[in-house]
Amino acid sequence: MNLSFNVEKIRQDFPILSKKINNKPLIYFDNAATSQTPICVIDCIKDYYEKYNSNIHRGVHSLSDEATSAYEDARNKVKDHFNIKYSEEVIFTSGTTHSINIVSNGFSKILTKDDEIIVSGLEHHSNIVPWQMMIESSGAKLKVIPLMENGELDMDEFANILSLKTKVVFLNHVSNALGLINPIEKIINMSHEKGAYVLIDGAQSAAHFKIDLQKLNVDFFTASAHKLCGPTGVGFLYGKKELLHRMEPLMGGGEMISDVTFSKTTYADLPHKFEAGTPNISGVIAFGRALDYLNEIGLEKIENYENDLLDYANSKLKQIEGLKIYGESKNKTSVISFNIEGIHSYDIGALLDKFGIAVRTGQHCAQPIMDHFGVDGTVRASFSFINTFQEIDDLFEALKKVKSMLS
Ligand code: ALA
Repeated sequence: MNLSFNVEKIRQDFPILSKKINNKPLIYFDNAATSQTPICVIDCIKDYYEKYNSNIHRGVHSLSDEATSAYEDARNKVKDHFNIKYSEEVIFTSGTTHSINIVSNGFSKILTKDDEIIVSGLEHHSNIVPWQMMIESSGAKLKVIPLMENGELDMDEFANILSLKTKVVFLNHVSNALGLINPIEKIINMSHEKGAYVLIDGAQSAAHFKIDLQKLNVDFFTASAHKLCGPTGVGFLYGKKELLHRMEPLMGGGEMISDVTFSKTTYADLPHKFEAGTPNISGVIAFGRALDYLNEIGLEKIENYENDLLDYANSKLKQIEGLKIYGESKNKTSVISFNIEGIHSYDIGALLDKFGIAVRTGQHCAQPIMDHFGVDGTVRASFSFINTFQEIDDLFEALKKVKSMLS
């Protein structure tokens, strides 16, 4: 157990943790859906609206200058945090889904019917549906990396389906439904050897450990602020400059143009080409503050503490007879996806809420994974550095009561 991690002090940064749910203290185990927000990030949004609310890149006035410089500072914070080479390779989006749609739309104009694209079998719907929409227009073929029994990717099969016809490989870094960490370094290297580009969806990884995008040499990467202690409705897309230059923008509008006439429009330089319209200015600035907050604690400390929480939760939950965990592996983030024999996942989640415990239930926007395990859903408890060992004991006791009430 990691006693050097001062979780009680950290919890004081999160006002929501003093809330009661059904007269019980909130135990928040739905961090994979949305992380909670520290007071410094909430204050940052308040500060923006109280002191320099204004549109960016447009005004000659001081407020606009102030907002523009805070917004561009946030871009540099993302660049530094993920070790990205150029700030113009950071595109602010409304989140991971938006980012993936920018890339799939960009590729729909580049790929032809002779090309193949590969997704993993471990995907969130947001990394399946946009590519299905894209192959309808490009005619490219979609191949899927199958799963092994425990839910990990079958890398032998990946080697079999990867070929010189493969143009893009897309997958998540960490599965949202199971917490499994995919071997992305290997996948990126193997794909590059065949000349294929790789997009990594980091929505579920970025909050748990440090990610160095230059070292990974990945072509595209995306993550959402709301899983990183930031606000909802903000995320970013990283793309290598030469690829972003080749791609058509998803949205047209103000600020993404260089020259507009009724006969022709030319686009602005990166990153503005992909940032049409007024962005979520306060959200982007607060995203930068959230990254500062995580760095103040230290991602390495967060990773170690969360690993300890996961080990402890595994050892406790396995004591419950009839409880089955899906996606067991050494390479996992702090997520446990499970069912209890004879009880529907929804009923478990609804009863846990009566004990003040928040979990997600159902398919987790990942129906193919549920199909793989032959279940219609699971209960997902996703832990973060704001959680305590005591809360895991409380989950264990609550699950025992749920079991005796429902079986
Ligand atoms: N993608 C988020 C989750 O896994 C919403 O819950």
